[in-house]
Amino acid sequence: MGDSTDLSAELALVEPYRIKVVEPIRLLPREERERALRAAFHSVTYLNSADVFVDLATDSGTSAMSDRQWAAMMIADEAYVRSQSFFRFEKSIQEIFGYPHVIPVHQGRAAENILTELLVKPDAVVPSNTHFDTVRAHVEHRHGIGIDLVGDWLWNFEAEHPFKGNFDLDKLKTALEKYGSRVPFVSITISNNMACSSPVSMENIRQAKALADAHKVPILFDASRFAENAYFIKQREPGYANVPIREIVREMFSYGDGCWMSAKKDALVNIGGFIALRDESLARRCQEQLVLYEGFPTYGGLARRDLEAVAVGLQEAVEEDYLRHRTQQVAYLGSLFERAGIRCSKPFGGSGVFIDLQSLYPHLTSEQFPDVAMGCDTYLEGGVRAAAFPFVLKGIDQQGEITKRTFHFARFAVPRRTFTRSHLDYVGAVMARVKQRAPHSPGYRCTHSPEVLGHFFSRFEPLA
Ligand code: F0G
Repeated sequence: MGDSTDLSAELALVEPYRIKVVEPIRLLPREERERALRAAFHSVTYLNSADVFVDLATDSGTSAMSDRQWAAMMIADEAYVRSQSFFRFEKSIQEIFGYPHVIPVHQGRAAENILTELLVKPDAVVPSNTHFDTVRAHVEHRHGIGIDLVGDWLWNFEAEHPFKGNFDLDKLKTALEKYGSRVPFVSITISNNMACSSPVSMENIRQAKALADAHKVPILFDASRFAENAYFIKQREPGYANVPIREIVREMFSYGDGCWMSAKKDALVNIGGFIALRDESLARRCQEQLVLYEGFPTYGGLARRDLEAVAVGLQEAVEEDYLRHRTQQVAYLGSLFERAGIRCSKPFGGSGVFIDLQSLYPHLTSEQFPDVAMGCDTYLEGGVRAAAFPFVLKGIDQQGEITKRTFHFARFAVPRRTFTRSHLDYVGAVMARVKQRAPHSPGYRCTHSPEVLGHFFSRFEPLA
């Protein structure tokens, strides 16, 4: 007779690790939080980390590393030239992604800098499902245009589209027909971070590849969150339930010509990144730029111990137990928000829970900064930091003309392997309070907004 109690739902939320090292965190008393927020110009990007209790600002570079990663760092070979650590890093990446040429960089945007310098000429058009903002900034820095061809389903928070990160393939077709000769590559962001960290299906990747092939345009992946994407394919796409994650990963990348990765996400490290390519001559040119900006091709702006941490972290990132727990943590936090009456992007995605600010502050117009209100309320109620953005996407209309549309959301990013279920329960309780009090928020006004990186450095004060 089988066991009558099914523990799988409980088990999915149990941390698949024991804690060996701890870092104390402390909740400041309310008056001190009020003082800290005033000193921070009512902007969570000016709050000191020491004043934050549960920091959900980003899942980038905030992962807890494993004992194996730390052990690997201790045996690093810190040679400048052709260190053994580089070869372990290279092998780990070649094995997982299947691309032969590996170029280390210190983080994602360093890779973006090199690739756009080499590939994006003035007036180039770079289609993507959605560019992450640093990628778009690099394309524009080279006087190119980055366009975001995600479907309109993105704007419907509750539409249960399993692959909200997908390209709208009709838009990609129109873009390639209209701008084909100006397109240096198609960029596929997996998972699609700015589209609520939603995954892209294998079928969508395959079809995007067919369209790109028809125009002889290569495909490059922004692979920063590739492992979570692979896990969602396994969970949500027919035909993949029994395929091992590593095989799904290999298939995804088989449709591309290369990728770059901010290892600060799915590689479970605090710093690092790489470019991996099929084409040897492009790889050589990347290496030449690398020497200019980052360092010798066998360390790329990193300590060799950082390369070791990436080599091991990537292998851990494709373990199914880890991915199950990681994605379940996000979904669990989201379910707590929904219980509190907060509208979330569904189904839940990779990096964190994305919420609809309009559902929280329906009485505030965008000039009254509901995003700032949410950041302040969340911190005041419970010392929790989360980030909210207005994000401008550049799309195209049916004639292929470029359009702009702003997507407003807040993200509660969940750092990997860092918090336990009780932290998430706490954040859920804080957000229930925030939801109750939100109708009383007077809104904010901006007192200072620099031209560059306004959303990081603007200052605010409450309206009443
Ligand atoms: N691509 C994606 C999909 C990203 O999410 C990020 C960073 C980058 C590229 C840039 O990488 O930070 O290493 O230079 N995202 C962070 C975030 C900052 O909070 O989502 P980087």
